[in-house]
Amino acid sequence: NKLWVVIPAAGVGARMQADRPKQYLPLVGKTVIEHTLACFLTHPAVAGIVVAISEGDPYWAELTATALSERGNVYTAPGGCERADSVLNALDYLVNTLQVNADTGVLVHDAARPCLSRHDVDKLLAEGMGEAAGAILAVPVRDTMKRAQPDTSRVAHTEDRNGLWHALTPQLARLGVLREALAHALHAGLPVTDEASALEQFGLHPLLVEGDARNIKITRPADLALATFFLIEAAG
Ligand code: C5P
Repeated sequence: NKLWVVIPAAGVGARMQADRPKQYLPLVGKTVIEHTLACFLTHPAVAGIVVAISEGDPYWAELTATALSERGNVYTAPGGCERADSVLNALDYLVNTLQVNADTGVLVHDAARPCLSRHDVDKLLAEGMGEAAGAILAVPVRDTMKRAQPDTSRVAHTEDRNGLWHALTPQLARLGVLREALAHALHAGLPVTDEASALEQFGLHPLLVEGDARNIKITRPADLALATFFLIEAAG
């Protein structure tokens, strides 16, 4: 009953304005993606990991030649145009190449979220494993949320923030249903910015599991400083 982990790591990270994709930037003695993988490499519920990598990415091979070389069960799949394409390629690899069963649980987690704690993985699994519709880590919205008038930067109204959540990763689903939902959504040209949004189009309502707000996605330069602080705090 072990799970597989899918790590989309094929983004270019243009908003970081760095010399390489953000998942390969240095962070507290390693690269961002090595911190991200650490949580899963040693987890007893994880059967293996599939990382979606861009074609011609020179950085992954460098890592696997050194730090990750002794780790079994880490595979790669080709990245796609959008995050959802990368995830779907990794799911295809699980089904077609590794012949993983459709009922198997899959955790999808952004390469650019290196501050995920073991505690949050375990909480998501404890609350979400029995959920046919899947489950996601999320944090309640704390700011006041404004809806803009169409095509303007003028306030139309204030959204009720009660019941609004920020979606994080990992997101947990069954391999077969998630693969079908992503393929369907991409084929139909629907917006899919996370796994849950694909499942929602099938009328599925994944469980919201409250996670730690420190599980940030590295997007802009200041996020690296924050992640450094969180990782040092967690280690101490
Ligand atoms: O760009 P963004 O921060 O939304 O990316 C989230 C995650 O999806 C990152 O880990 C990134 O590497 C990955 N991604 C991908 N394939 C793409 C775009 C993003 O695997 N085409």
